[in-house]
Amino acid sequence: MDAALERALSIADLRAIARRRLPRSVFEFIDGGAEDELTLADNRAAFERVRIVPRVLVDVSAPDLATDIVGTPAAAPFVVAPMGSCALGWPGADLAIAKAAAAHGIPYTLSTMSNTGLERIADAVQGPLWFQLYVLRDRAFNAALVQRAWAAGYGTLVVTVDLPAGGKRERDLRNGVSIPLRMTPRHLWEGITHPGWAWRMARGGRPEFENVRGLLGDHSAGLTIAAKVGQNLDASYGWDDLAALRNSWPGRLLVKGVEHADDAERLAALGVDGIWVSNHGGRQLDGAQASADALAEIARRLAGRLPLLVDSGVRRGVDALKARMLGAQAVAIGRAALFGACAGGEAGAHRAIAILLGELRLAMQLAGVATLTDARRAGLSATQM
Ligand code: FNR
Repeated sequence: MDAALERALSIADLRAIARRRLPRSVFEFIDGGAEDELTLADNRAAFERVRIVPRVLVDVSAPDLATDIVGTPAAAPFVVAPMGSCALGWPGADLAIAKAAAAHGIPYTLSTMSNTGLERIADAVQGPLWFQLYVLRDRAFNAALVQRAWAAGYGTLVVTVDLPAGGKRERDLRNGVSIPLRMTPRHLWEGITHPGWAWRMARGGRPEFENVRGLLGDHSAGLTIAAKVGQNLDASYGWDDLAALRNSWPGRLLVKGVEHADDAERLAALGVDGIWVSNHGGRQLDGAQASADALAEIARRLAGRLPLLVDSGVRRGVDALKARMLGAQAVAIGRAALFGACAGGEAGAHRAIAILLGELRLAMQLAGVATLTDARRAGLSATQM
């Protein structure tokens, strides 16, 4: 492992390495959020506000991190969140992160907008794999994609519902980020000033979007792939469509991007297998409430009727313990894993997950929590009750 990765103690350290190694436009595409980034900041702040009241005199000599996550046995309460366009930061990042997740025994969610296709990931990865669906206007294409995922062995489908349109990410607009990157003079200069990244990109070749290749046709003709997918997003997708998906998908179905307890109630009635509380890492509606706050309310309303996952702002292992205490089965990690991959490919992603697991193990010991089923025996401070 390279020395900088070995020295990295925290996700913040890995983010700092990724920031140094990536051109600014690529780093900001990953790191940034929508508009004034209020939700981006509040996601983190909400996890930081949660305070634990530890228990003492508990045998915590061997904390047990293992848990079930919506029917998938996992070594720890973490899932990798779906992320598109990761190859902008590190060629082959999808596979690098998926392998790191498998090595740690946690599920990996492959995005519709991954660069590496779902079949290639399934062939190369030995761990639990979930597939994420963006609902596109072409219903026949959606159906075929979902069938491909099932045929390739993805037993859990995650349908993302907080992206009827792309959020307004001003950093990307200012930086002229297009996907795939078009070589403007600015991007050429960024390549010259980040030779390691430029060399890897040249060797990796132009990133494709293998899952959606058939849909988008020839993307040399004017629009970028992202713009074409943007034009293809189905903003009319509603409850009846989701009910139809529930009826046709034989595996487990999770709905990602839920923030309102009324929606969570209705999803429970519709028969989904789990709810993924998320505001897309602050990349969609700026002004949306923080996910940890939404989780607390949704968990109160559902009172254990459905498994809950939460993401947006997880940067420390203790966040998984906090989420567990607030009522989630697990947390999903987006940028935390991707910062690792951008800092050093598979070794970097591996390091990111190892850091989070190590922090969680220690947090459980210090909170007097021997197993995750006991998590609620430690208290939350009065302000969170
Ligand atoms: C995302 N996210 C996302 N979500 C999704 O459902 N499909 C996708 O293709 C993507 N793509 C994507 C790309 C990048 C670069 C990022 C950072 C995020 C959102 C992701 O799944 C998750 O909800 C957030 O990343 C969680 O927030 P944190 O952990 O990054 O703070």
